[in-house]
Amino acid sequence: MREQLNSSSSERSDAIASSSQGEEVSYARRVRDYYDASASGYVRFLGHTFQAGTIDTGLAEGAPPDYYRANNLYMAARAGLAPGQRILDAGCGVAGPAIDIATAIPGLQIDGVTLSPVQAKLARGFISAAGLEERVRVQLADYHRLPFPNGTFDAVVFFESSGYSPYPERLLREMWRVTRPGGRLYVKDVFRLDRTLSVEEQAELDEFNQIFVHHTRPLAALAAAAEAAGYSELETTCLDSVITTRFMEEAMVGDREHPALTPFGERHFRPFKVLPITFGELRARRLLTE
Ligand SMILES: C[S@@+](CC[C@H](N)C(=O)[O-])C[C@H]1O[C@@H](n2cnc3c(N)ncnc32)[C@H](O)[C@@H]1O
Repeated sequence: MREQLNSSSSERSDAIASSSQGEEVSYARRVRDYYDASASGYVRFLGHTFQAGTIDTGLAEGAPPDYYRANNLYMAARAGLAPGQRILDAGCGVAGPAIDIATAIPGLQIDGVTLSPVQAKLARGFISAAGLEERVRVQLADYHRLPFPNGTFDAVVFFESSGYSPYPERLLREMWRVTRPGGRLYVKDVFRLDRTLSVEEQAELDEFNQIFVHHTRPLAALAAAAEAAGYSELETTCLDSVITTRFMEEAMVGDREHPALTPFGERHFRPFKVLPITFGELRARRLLTE
C-alpha cells in the first residue's frame, strides 16, 4: 500500500492541483485520502464494485460477484448504454462496473475518473487482468474539471459517486459540456429523504456524511441542478423497492450465521436507527439542438 501511495504521488498532486483553491482543494483531498486508505478494504470485503445498495435482480442467493455484475448490467440498461458508444464513468472506483459493462456490451469504450491514486492503480490491474486495456481507461481527475473536450461522450454515468460532490450544479454543467448533443446522463446514488428531518435523523445523517466523506442530498436537488445545467427529459425514480443493502451490511458485520465486525465494519459501521436515506436514480438527456 505504501509503495502504491509513493509511486502515485506526482499523479496525485496533478489531480488535486487541477482543482481550484481553498475549500475545494480540502474537500478533494479528504475524498482522495479516504479512498486511498480504504480502497483495499472495499476490495477485500465488498469486491470490485463499491456500492452500498445493489439492485435486487432476483439473484439474492447468488454469489456476490455475479450479484454485482447483475447490478452493474441493470444500471447499464437503465442508462441506455449500447454497443460502440463512448462512456464517461464519473467516480469509477476500481472499475468493477466498467469492466462488467465493457465485457457485456461489444465495442463500448469507457473512460473512468477517480480522485484516488490507489483506486486508479488497482483499477488498471483489474482492467489488464480482464484484457480490456483497449476499451477501459482510468485516469486521475476531479470530475468537476475533466480533461476531455466538449461533446466527447455518448453518455455519462455516476454509480454512487455524485453524492461526493459539494457542488452539484458545477458538476452537472461539466457533465453537460462533455456529453454530445443527444447524449445521456445516468445517476444511481444514495439520497437524503426529501422532508424536514428530526434532530435524531439529522444527527445520524451528519455522522453518515462524516464516515463516508459524503454530501447526501435529496434526489430532487440533484435533478434541479441537472435542469439548471441544461439537461432535458429529466426522470427521477425511487429505487428502494428494488435495492438490497445486504452485501454492504455483510461486508461490515459478517453474515447472519457468523456476525462479527470486520475491519471494514470497524471503520464504517454504526448502529443507525433512523438514518434518513433512500436510493434513487436520475436519467436525463442533453438535447440534440439547444
Ligand atoms: C462509492 S465509490 C463508487 C465507485 C464506483 N462507481 C463503483 O460503483 O464501484 C465513489 C467514487 O467516486 C469518486 N469520486 C468522488 N469525488 C470525486 C471527484 N471529485 N472526482 C472524481 N471522482 C470522485 C471516488 O474516488 C470513488 O471512486
